[in-house]
Amino acid sequence: MTICYFTASGNCLYVARRIGGTLLSIPQLMRQEKIEIEDDAVGIVCPVYAVELPFMIVDFMKKADIKTDYFFFILTCGYGYEVSLGHAEVAAQERGWDLKYGNGVLMVDNYLPIFDMDEEIRKLPGKDVEGQLDKICADIQARKEQRVKLTPALKAQMALYHKTHAPKVINKNMALDYTVNEDCIHCGICAKACPANNITVTESKVIFGKCCEVCYACLHNCPKKAIRLPLEKADARFRNEHITLNDIIKANQ
Ligand SMILES: Cc1cc2nc3c(=O)[nH]c(=O)nc-3n(C[C@H](O)[C@H](O)[C@H](O)COP(=O)(O)O)c2cc1C
Repeated sequence: MTICYFTASGNCLYVARRIGGTLLSIPQLMRQEKIEIEDDAVGIVCPVYAVELPFMIVDFMKKADIKTDYFFFILTCGYGYEVSLGHAEVAAQERGWDLKYGNGVLMVDNYLPIFDMDEEIRKLPGKDVEGQLDKICADIQARKEQRVKLTPALKAQMALYHKTHAPKVINKNMALDYTVNEDCIHCGICAKACPANNITVTESKVIFGKCCEVCYACLHNCPKKAIRLPLEKADARFRNEHITLNDIIKANQ
């Protein structure tokens, strides 16, 4: 089994590890000229962004050549994944891939404009992440089929959020609005954690480019919490408790 994953604050890496098999980082795969993956089971694990898929996942699904008898898609999110699974199904159909199993895991919502990470962590026991993962792991082990049905209601929601919600929450220029305060020690961790290679750190400056994934890897992994958004609910930052900073850097560098 092979799992291709994308992570900023560690939830997806943890889920990928729990499911098991060979883990491949999507940001690293995307730097290859050709992506060819063949295995008895192949899955993608990525976060929900603005009720959509991350930009890089959309590009990955266009670029990768995946051959498998059992293709699955797992989304991690704070509060809902069904509509984004619809986008995964459409992207799979466009490639002629048979998406046999789609599911999602409710975890900490790392969207800083709306959520306080400390409160989100306090809510975690109620989400029973381990219980959700036990079920998904057993389903995948058994090669269970759970197809995404593109009903008219789901398609209507996909179109609505795509038009009204997504453009406000995710666009590739968003990092141009991030600020860096005087606590910055120019350690370069933000640049190493960025999956899009969108950050350059010099002795005196942190420079953001125009290919931001809006994943917040830079914000969540900064050891000084020095990178700030124009609007954020609280100072707290988050990294999944099972995942280290080094894991994130290894995945995204
Ligand atoms: C820009 C952005 C938008 C998000 N939008 C949603 C959303 O629409 N619905 C949701 O349930 N979670 C949303 N989230 C939360 C993430 O999907 C969730 O925290 C995910 O588990 C993070 O994965 P990671 O830790 O592997 O990076 C969003 C997070 C970010 C950064």
